[in-house]
Amino acid sequence: VRNEPKNKFMKGSPEKAEVKQELNNINSQLNSSGPYKVPMIINGNKIFTQSNKQQHVPFDHKKILCSYSETDKEHIDLAIKTALEAKLSWENMPFNDRAAIFLKAADLLSTKYRSKVIAATMMGQGKTACEAEIDAAAELADFWRFNVKYAAEIYSQQPSENSPHVWNRLEYRPLEGFVVAFSPFNFTAIGGNLCTAPALMGNVVLWKPSPMSMYSNYLLMQILKEAGLPDGVIQFIPGDAPFVVENTFNHPEFAGLHFTGSTAVFKHLWKKIGDNLEIYKSYPRIVGETGGKNLHFLHKSADVNTAVYNTIRGGFEFQGQKCSATSRVYIPESLWPQYSELLKNEVLKIKQGSVEDFSNFMSSVINRQSFDKIKSYIDEVKEVKDGKQYILVGGETNDKVGYEIQPTVIVTKDPFSKTMTDELFGPVVTCYVYPDEKYIETLEMADKTTDYALTGSVFAVDREAIITASNVLRNSAGNFYINDKSTGAVVGQQPFGGGRSSGTNDKAGSILNLFRWISPRTIKENF
Ligand code: ALA
Repeated sequence: VRNEPKNKFMKGSPEKAEVKQELNNINSQLNSSGPYKVPMIINGNKIFTQSNKQQHVPFDHKKILCSYSETDKEHIDLAIKTALEAKLSWENMPFNDRAAIFLKAADLLSTKYRSKVIAATMMGQGKTACEAEIDAAAELADFWRFNVKYAAEIYSQQPSENSPHVWNRLEYRPLEGFVVAFSPFNFTAIGGNLCTAPALMGNVVLWKPSPMSMYSNYLLMQILKEAGLPDGVIQFIPGDAPFVVENTFNHPEFAGLHFTGSTAVFKHLWKKIGDNLEIYKSYPRIVGETGGKNLHFLHKSADVNTAVYNTIRGGFEFQGQKCSATSRVYIPESLWPQYSELLKNEVLKIKQGSVEDFSNFMSSVINRQSFDKIKSYIDEVKEVKDGKQYILVGGETNDKVGYEIQPTVIVTKDPFSKTMTDELFGPVVTCYVYPDEKYIETLEMADKTTDYALTGSVFAVDREAIITASNVLRNSAGNFYINDKSTGAVVGQQPFGGGRSSGTNDKAGSILNLFRWISPRTIKENF
């Protein structure tokens, strides 16, 4: 399987013209007929309810991209009932026929729908064209194609042992019941993977997308339908999260949760499942990927240009709203003058604004709540003048048109300050300068600084320093990078996921994840 090639949207390129056209189409729709209307999709039927909520454009927040129908009790019940009815024929469908649907979906996404989904991701989630391309076109097509390859490997390895008069075999069956998928706003691809990975393994899924990625996620349902996904296999149920939890987790056939979102919510959901254990037919599978407080750690042998380039990309691409975003950087004293000077200069060059201007490297954060939270952390650094923290560059915010937060670098003398421990989910990188000779001690401290363990990177030329970092940080990052940024895992190359409070480390887009969605049956047959 080849990774989907990524376009760069150079001046005059056809892909740039196509995405621009799709952005124009969205704007004309909004101007002429108002926001798109997104229904629930239950058993293939589009259902509109009275309860309409809205998804706005982050970099122009007065603009509403779509209004969507929130589910109610009646429709959740209907979604569960019809999913369970669709289940038998879906799981009995030969794997190759199921697989063909997702491969066709990947092709439709990478050709016919590519620019449309990219434009929807740009407008709704505030991604630049390049970031939307990486996510909604390349990563999602990769998820769909690589998952088919991995699933085929799984099914080809169903153990089978025969001897005279006896045949023993292991059959990889789907889970009994239905799976619930909860997806976040920050990657269109994650939504598209969370609902389809269990489905590929023969399960039926209720998908609750994030309200802040509603329109792009809805387009994925259209693609899956066009690719031949039978009705009822994936039910699209926008809704209030606690309400959806209340009305799906209380069902005896709730068989699994496929989740990406915050650590706090994931822990809450896990407890809820624990509380309901007596209700369920089976122990539900719980697969979750949550937050991060991802580090870059520079050794004195590091190449400063490489380190700065990757701080900028890891910390500020997509406004730092990747769970993998770089948010704390450790720098040895000897490199600090050069590193800080270069970083400051590079940050000052960053262009920020509407994603419709393709020359912008950054745009706005997703919503008011996020803006207020990030701003409060920055303001605290500005206000508390105890000499422990200061802003090296950035720090301005503006919510007049969009929710804009400048790329911001904080320097702290306290390695356990809130900006070193809390996940802000925004364009804020905090730097801590350590004495060169305290490399190992500082690595040990960095390991203990947060409960998260999603991604992390070491920058060093010295081989021994790399080995030391790899050892000390062995459990601090599910994705560990050497001389590369903490973001940007590629499906099929760096399976993604972390441990500790960052999730169950079941590696999205890998064979390990797909194994979670099967329930094997051992069969012995005598002749
Ligand atoms: N998988 C995404 C990354 O690695 C979150 O940046």
